[in-house]
Amino acid sequence: MRVPKRVKMVEVGPRDGLQNEQVIVPTEVKIGLIDRLSAAGLSAIEVTSFVSPKWVPQMADNARVLAGITRRPGVSYSALVPTMQGFQAALAAGVDEIAVFGSASESFSQKNINCSIAESLERFGAVIAAARRNGIPVRGYVSCVLGCPYEGEVSPKAVAQVAARLLAMGCYEISLGDTIGLAGPAKAQAMIRTVAARVPRERLAVHFHDTYGLALANILSVLELGIAVVDSSVDGLGGCPYAKGAAGNVASEDLLCMLNGLGIETGVDLGELIAAGAYISSFLDRPFGSKVARALVGKG
Ligand code: HMG
Ligand code: MG
Repeated sequence: MRVPKRVKMVEVGPRDGLQNEQVIVPTEVKIGLIDRLSAAGLSAIEVTSFVSPKWVPQMADNARVLAGITRRPGVSYSALVPTMQGFQAALAAGVDEIAVFGSASESFSQKNINCSIAESLERFGAVIAAARRNGIPVRGYVSCVLGCPYEGEVSPKAVAQVAARLLAMGCYEISLGDTIGLAGPAKAQAMIRTVAARVPRERLAVHFHDTYGLALANILSVLELGIAVVDSSVDGLGGCPYAKGAAGNVASEDLLCMLNGLGIETGVDLGELIAAGAYISSFLDRPFGSKVARALVGKG
């Protein structure tokens, strides 16, 4: 099997996970979680989002989270930013990196950010240009790459189109979001092949939600195509408030276990990562969300 020697794990639990919790997790608990994740060796952590607090109240403490974390050298602390207003706030809060988030599906774009794909790209153009002037790297998400909760099938060509635009506008990496987690490895590979015809593979990342339990199979299938950046969420936290029924991202602990088994380097310590997962699942008063923690520690 040909897989990359090293994979970068991008931890999105504090944002993608906690944006979807019914309870608003206190800022100190978010900070405790993020500090445990950086202690585990993760070098990229998406810590919050600068979106409208009317749309996602769970992320309203964005600036306080960034002010409270202990910054480890070598770790990039990033945030989602949809508009210039969000960018100004993120910059003032001292974010290291931002991510703009578009969609390959018109309906999801409308429901999630209240504008068309074309309008979103126009907005992101201004955000990306401002970020670059300020030396802030920008990641670009494309949602609904393997299907849309409102439209069903999404064509890989539509995904490639948005991904190529985001790259051309200055994003250093494009994370392909399987927002609803419905499709399996055959479709994942076909989608990557189509996108890779327009965006170099080394600029692509994958972001699989695990709604149907297919995320690890999908990840393995795209590692075989040379993809070496994978998003995941500690304890399998999350979902998307505008994709009803979607489960969290693949659990970071389960992803790491698979990568370790393949002999792939990540720089992340499994024991410390499980401790971070135990910390948040204990706060949320739930059994562990990762299979690895259930096997190694118990039910949580
Ligand atoms: P809007 O209502 O169309 O825009 O929202 P607006 O310009 O009319 O603004 C409405 C209010 O929000 C105004 O306040 C603005 O000031 C304020 P008011 O005057 O009513 O008091 N506002 C903001 N406040 C804070 N930060 C901002 C900001 N911008 C405007 N950046 C908007 C448009 C994009 C803001 C809204 O639709 C929004 O916040 N959407 C975010 C939805 C979201 O966060 N979704 C989850 C993340 S995406 C995801 O999970 C998918 C992903 O994981 C990949 C995958 O899995 O596929 C990334
Ligand atoms: Mg997501």
